Amino acid sequence: MKIWIINGPNLNLLGTREPDIYGTETLDAINRRVQDYLIKHGHIYEFFQSNSEGQLIDKIQEAYEENVDGIVINPAAYTHYSYAIHDAIKSVSIPAVEVHLSAIHSREDFRKQSVIAPACMGQISGFGATGYLLAVQALDTIVSERNTL
Ligand code: DQA
Repeated sequence: MKIWIINGPNLNLLGTREPDIYGTETLDAINRRVQDYLIKHGHIYEFFQSNSEGQLIDKIQEAYEENVDGIVINPAAYTHYSYAIHDAIKSVSIPAVEVHLSAIHSREDFRKQSVIAPACMGQISGFGATGYLLAVQALDTIVSERNTL
């Protein structure tokens, strides 16, 4: 299976960014953990992070051209207002799982709404970096089940 892990703005600062909320692990360290799982299970993968909405949309569109089977996406602050990222995920019809390190539903009101969620199969929020692993496992299970039907 081909799985892409896409991260949005300010997640390049993980490790130093509000560690009380987002933890002390860097994005590279998180990606290495996810990579270990992906390699162990024989998946093809790519990690991508951008601070810009257009680049995130281009990457989602590229996933279609590259026949990606599943996307794990943490759209960061774009979660709460980017209809363009919502539309991009809908447009490519690739199963996607939305991930948030923090428990967005227990934080400020503006974080409680995700405009991306309706374009995704599901959302994982509040489990820190483990959320990425859970998302990859969910895609692995669901897409392989679909392929054996
Ligand atoms: C986040 C939650 C968002 O509200 C915030 O803007 C982020 C990170 C998370 O992973 O918890 O940048 O997506």
